[in-house]
Amino acid sequence: GKGEYDHFMLKEIHEQPVSLAQTIEGRTDPENGRITLDELDPGVFDGIESVQLIACGTSYHAALYGSLALNRAGVRARALLANEYSVATPPIDEETLVIAVSQSGETADTLNALRLANAEGAKTLALTNVVGSTAARVADETLFIRAGPEIGVAATKTFSSQAVMLALLAHRIGADVCDTRPTDPDSLVFGLDRMPDAIDDLITSSDAESIARQYDGSQSYFFIGRGLGFPVALEGALKFKEITYNHAEGFASGELKHGPLALVTPDTPLFAVFTGVEDEKTLKNAEEAQTRGAPIVAVCPAGHRAVDIADAHLEIPETDPTLAGLFANVQLQLVSYHAARLLDRPIDKPRNLAKSVTVE
Ligand code: M6R
Repeated sequence: GKGEYDHFMLKEIHEQPVSLAQTIEGRTDPENGRITLDELDPGVFDGIESVQLIACGTSYHAALYGSLALNRAGVRARALLANEYSVATPPIDEETLVIAVSQSGETADTLNALRLANAEGAKTLALTNVVGSTAARVADETLFIRAGPEIGVAATKTFSSQAVMLALLAHRIGADVCDTRPTDPDSLVFGLDRMPDAIDDLITSSDAESIARQYDGSQSYFFIGRGLGFPVALEGALKFKEITYNHAEGFASGELKHGPLALVTPDTPLFAVFTGVEDEKTLKNAEEAQTRGAPIVAVCPAGHRAVDIADAHLEIPETDPTLAGLFANVQLQLVSYHAARLLDRPIDKPRNLAKSVTVE
């Protein structure tokens, strides 16, 4: 049951320190700063030249995050919407690894894309939360995110676990298929080790509720981020629209000036995610919106330059750049939750939506 919480969504947000610890457990060696992932046989990625990640909705945002993490590890990778895969199929062959990212492992669009990849001779891997799910049975390999059951239709803890799992996998694939190891896993493993406690602290001290109250009744809500902050901006907006029924959109920070800026008014709060990479540029983008009257909520560490400029602040810890966005995402989950709550929405079962979409 929901226990002390009013909604499963809030319970599942609060479960993240535990669910993430489960995801990471036994897959890293914190003492030696190593990623192990021993459940995957040595040589499992031999001959892989490129990676395609296929998914829908929130899982697609995790896939996008994963594709960027893979790129940083020196691996050719791209994320694709599973429902576009059959009409816009990129070249696939035996040297392609196709990773299906699906919490339920039952999403029809994702399963269709996975079957197509199998038929084309790709090596396939399912990243799922559900043991015995169809995706786990259809793919050549499976990795379980071990986030525990998620009841709220809005995916929260499973997104965090998917992204962390993909960050780990990116290092493993990078180490296996690249001659050189471009990124050192040390700081990631160190950051992951501290992540459960740090998320606990973040949730306890979050100002998300007062920020939701402050901007309640706005016309639209915008979310921006760059690099690994971009999928977080997309996810922030998806969560916000699905449970508040308010219009929300996520953009790559740099895209704001290429069109969306026309929508910016004093009635469109803008959440800016800072991950420690090219933050100066993101700050400049946010300031362009602020000049047009939009209130800026900076999601960044304390002492960050953005805090002085922004109208409100959601704090994240100083951490590895790969993980910063995931902390920001937890703050945005809380904002959406509290905004929906003020509006008295049926948070765990938003209208028209199902937990797992088993039709095309
Ligand atoms: O079970 P899956 O991860 O395959 O589901 C994919 C999407 O339907 C899902 O992520 C959806 O977007 C979320 N429930 C939204 O919060």
